[in-house]
Amino acid sequence: MNQHGSSGVITIDGPGGAGKGTISLAVANRLGWDYLDSGALYRVLGLAAARKQIALDNELLLVEEAASLGVSFGTGRSGLGVEVLLDGEDVTSSIRTETAGDAASKVAALPAVRAALLQRQRDFEQPPGVVADGRDMGTTVFPGAALKIFLTASAEERAKRRYKQLIEKGDDANIRALKSEIEERDRRDSERSTSPLRPAEDAVMLDTTEMDIESVITAVMGLATERGLMVR
Ligand code: DC
Repeated sequence: MNQHGSSGVITIDGPGGAGKGTISLAVANRLGWDYLDSGALYRVLGLAAARKQIALDNELLLVEEAASLGVSFGTGRSGLGVEVLLDGEDVTSSIRTETAGDAASKVAALPAVRAALLQRQRDFEQPPGVVADGRDMGTTVFPGAALKIFLTASAEERAKRRYKQLIEKGDDANIRALKSEIEERDRRDSERSTSPLRPAEDAVMLDTTEMDIESVITAVMGLATERGLMVR
């Protein structure tokens, strides 16, 4: 612990497509810290529910599923992001589809589901530290984090980035449809009653609309250094 509260936690929250995953993983690697992709937990839960034909509003069954969810993470050192496993099966790419994102957003709106996944996320706080990426990392999961960032970018820019990713993967994509999906998910994530998407009072706001990845990483690393967080 240091004077800022719990030591060794950086939270990076913000809407989908703002670059949280890329930035969080890069910062975690530079610091030699662990990385928590909290969105992946909701995505895996959505996938597990679909496989077991559990309706996405069946809070009771979803809570049971969340409590026993066999999810684990790889190291992300392959350069392709962190590998996500469900009961040992690599589901990294199946949880990244628009359908999986939509299912994640729906299960994430259920308060008891969020509660069931809370301790699992807090368990990531281990020395030397963790960079936690999500929507409520700074407000709910790690309120005592040493550094809280709220990463944003315009919906248009986020749709463009997503479009580029999908085209590079060889998938079909429509930029206008992506923008409206992004806006719809933002709305659902911001308007839910439990842990809505909003910056923590002590978060540093970073608008990445006009920034490239490297400058965002540099900005976050600069803030980490200012706060006296250990840089390797
Ligand atoms: O960051 P992501 O796109 O992988 O997240 C998928 C969904 O999960 C997103 O719509 C909102 C939800 N989520 C959440 O409610 N709380 C978090 N800490 C992380 C994600």
